[in-house]
Amino acid sequence: MALHCGKTFCQYLLHLAHDNVDFRLPEIKSLLSLRGRKCDPPENFKERSPFWRLNGLSEDDVHSVMSRTVCAKSAFELWGHGKTAAELKSSLLEYPKERMTPFLQQESTYKINVYTFNKTLLFKDRIEKINALDFLPFQGKVNLKHPDHIFCLLEDYGLDPNDIPEEPFYIYFGRWIADGQRELIRSHSVKKRHFIGNTSMDAGLSFIMANHAKVKPHDLVYDPFVGTGSLLVACSHFGAYVCGTDIDYNTIHGVGRASRKNQKWRGPDENIRANLRQYGTEVFYVDVMVSDASKPVWRKGTLFDAIITDPPYGIRESTRRTGSHKEITNPPENLFGESHVPVSMVYHLSDVFADLLNFAAYHLVLGGRLVYWLPVYRPEYCEEMVPLHPCLRLVSNCEQTLSSHTSRRLITMEKTKDPEESDALQQLANPRFTPNQGHNSFREKYFSGITKKSTAKAMTEPPQTKKSD
Ligand SMILES: C[S@@+](CC[C@H](N)C(=O)[O-])C[C@H]1O[C@@H](n2cnc3c(N)ncnc32)[C@H](O)[C@@H]1O
Repeated sequence: MALHCGKTFCQYLLHLAHDNVDFRLPEIKSLLSLRGRKCDPPENFKERSPFWRLNGLSEDDVHSVMSRTVCAKSAFELWGHGKTAAELKSSLLEYPKERMTPFLQQESTYKINVYTFNKTLLFKDRIEKINALDFLPFQGKVNLKHPDHIFCLLEDYGLDPNDIPEEPFYIYFGRWIADGQRELIRSHSVKKRHFIGNTSMDAGLSFIMANHAKVKPHDLVYDPFVGTGSLLVACSHFGAYVCGTDIDYNTIHGVGRASRKNQKWRGPDENIRANLRQYGTEVFYVDVMVSDASKPVWRKGTLFDAIITDPPYGIRESTRRTGSHKEITNPPENLFGESHVPVSMVYHLSDVFADLLNFAAYHLVLGGRLVYWLPVYRPEYCEEMVPLHPCLRLVSNCEQTLSSHTSRRLITMEKTKDPEESDALQQLANPRFTPNQGHNSFREKYFSGITKKSTAKAMTEPPQTKKSD
């Protein structure tokens, strides 16, 4: 049974993984907001620290976050903390006894773990640190294999691996509550996935995207550049119904050349549906179809709870759209009559994003989220390059560095209102609402100072793929 802490004293400690650092706070905020909660970090909150103290939450809130997060490793009810062992001790002695005693009973078993960030301790030093906690009134017996309660002493030796202090900068002690979902990164790795392509999205990032999008059970989620469906896999794991479109016939139908090493052609049943089946979420598969995102085929109206996507940047796949000869030349009247001859045309990145935001404004439910990747050339990047829309609020903008001069930014937006006629005027007047032409030269800049191979690799969780571009 969850012990409910009063707001005055109760603090929870999150132990965060030290990768995807930029993505962590928006993830935790999004997961808390799914429960109508705000993230309430204390003053002097250090976002890059591996330990966060959170106030004003219930243990159920924390359990709910941990049931979804791939950024946090574990959560604890914080019993004490301080800069030194002495400070920790006085903080622990101040913690209300009635909150401790249910977990220190004679008939219960326990164990104490020691976790150190940026330092490895000798076994004897760990034991010493555990013994130094003997002032706590533990009544039960130690059981290292199957304890009823787990406690943890966590020491923070800072972020600099080249300057590790003798003593920790900060120490925490708490009761373990739950672990996060880091295991999903391994279990859903694209290396073991049935159907993959050259640009299949890394499993961890796919789950982060689904969390930023606040995807929840029974939502309908759409990916307009679905590829091999990695984002659908993550969303279906959280119980959402999923669908997608892609311009590439072979990808949608799971035919053509394989991306795996030692395999020439895709085998039977290598498709998105089979991917969901692999993870037991086929029941949430709605469908995928061949379609050009620049010419949406959807009926008018709010259809989707979330749109989550990784548009083509033109690095490992082309940014093409369908067009017709009519759009290229102006033929003499009646030369082609009314016939439409589909051809492939360049789909400029600026148009990809403008179309995507417009589509989201029209087709997301109110409060629904759009989550997508925006590739940027770092030397020229400024916040003004992130496209805005009168109907969408920018929620977060997190950077994943790809090379010294390129990165991609995970943009999360939330629909705040339905489109009106007056928005068109606003869109003309505000340069942030018009397509930013600066994005169009990303491809040239991307290849300007690096070898193709090294960074194309960084854009996916590879190395099962055989083509470098
Ligand atoms: C970066 S990949 C998406 C990868 C996907 N997230 C996955 O995990 O496999 C971009 C996809 O957009 C598709 N695409 C390119 N232009 C398109 C267009 N005009 N309309 C729809 N899809 C398009 C490409 O075929 C490619 O599969």
